[in-house]
Amino acid sequence: MEEPRKSPSSPAPWRSLFQSHIEKMKDPYFVFSTVARDDKGTPVPRARYCVFRGFFGELKLRPSEEDDLKKHHKDGLNPDAFESDMLTFTTDVRMAKVDQLVQSGGAAEAVFWVKEVTSQWRVKGKAFVIGGSPTEKEELDARAEIRRTLRILQQGDIEANNKEWSWDKEVTAYFACLHPIRRGSFKNPPPGLPMAENPTHSDFEFGEEVTDLHDPVARKNFRVVVIRPEEIDQVDLSDYRKGQRWKWTLSNNVDGQWRKIELWP
Ligand SMILES: Cc1cc2nc3c(=O)[nH]c(=O)nc-3n(C[C@H](O)[C@H](O)[C@H](O)COP(=O)(O)O)c2cc1C
Repeated sequence: MEEPRKSPSSPAPWRSLFQSHIEKMKDPYFVFSTVARDDKGTPVPRARYCVFRGFFGELKLRPSEEDDLKKHHKDGLNPDAFESDMLTFTTDVRMAKVDQLVQSGGAAEAVFWVKEVTSQWRVKGKAFVIGGSPTEKEELDARAEIRRTLRILQQGDIEANNKEWSWDKEVTAYFACLHPIRRGSFKNPPPGLPMAENPTHSDFEFGEEVTDLHDPVARKNFRVVVIRPEEIDQVDLSDYRKGQRWKWTLSNNVDGQWRKIELWP
């Protein structure tokens, strides 16, 4: 069994540079890779683009999204209680990547090409999927794993913040970030299903705008993926004569210290 890891007390050493690079991207797209199995059970890679939605616990909504959230969701936003080094994106539980994560124990890699600073960042780690029912074991296990490496923000009334903070509010805030049309896509027929197979289910509607942040059909399919990094690999090609490369590795001991080494590029 894996040893419980202590919550880190400070941001990972790669975090501020990574963040400063990502903030330079016009659109924070990245390639998200998982492991699938072919018909013979052989492991095969799968990759697709996704949109980086920031670090878990630190979601910042635009003013219009915050108004929307207040209008349609009485509980509003979570207090600023946590921060973390875990990367997030949103997805649909019916997409292949979710099952691949479940089957592979969360094996994942996120790759960013930050052209603005000619750097590639590869984030290897474990991905957890939340947004399902709190009565499901998988949901509770995923929340517990994410909770392990959240950092409690030492500001304001920490106890009150902790009490007020909820997983439902957090996932709802991610849903609020999406345009109503994008939210409607979670009511579409299952992604990846052949078009010719006409779904007959009455819940399926195409191109619908969803303003209700608790729309039962859309929320049944909506998920947040949280990537807990274990190894970071940065390649800096800004000097074409001398590429540079660094690797940060999280130690397996309970302290969860990061070790940085320089590699031949
Ligand atoms: C620019 C771009 C951004 C995308 N962002 C996401 C995203 O944030 N989440 C997601 O699930 N799919 C996103 N997609 C769609 C995925 O690339 C992919 O087609 C879809 O998730 C199905 O993948 P899967 O069947 O391997 O799960 C994006 C596609 C593009 C082109």
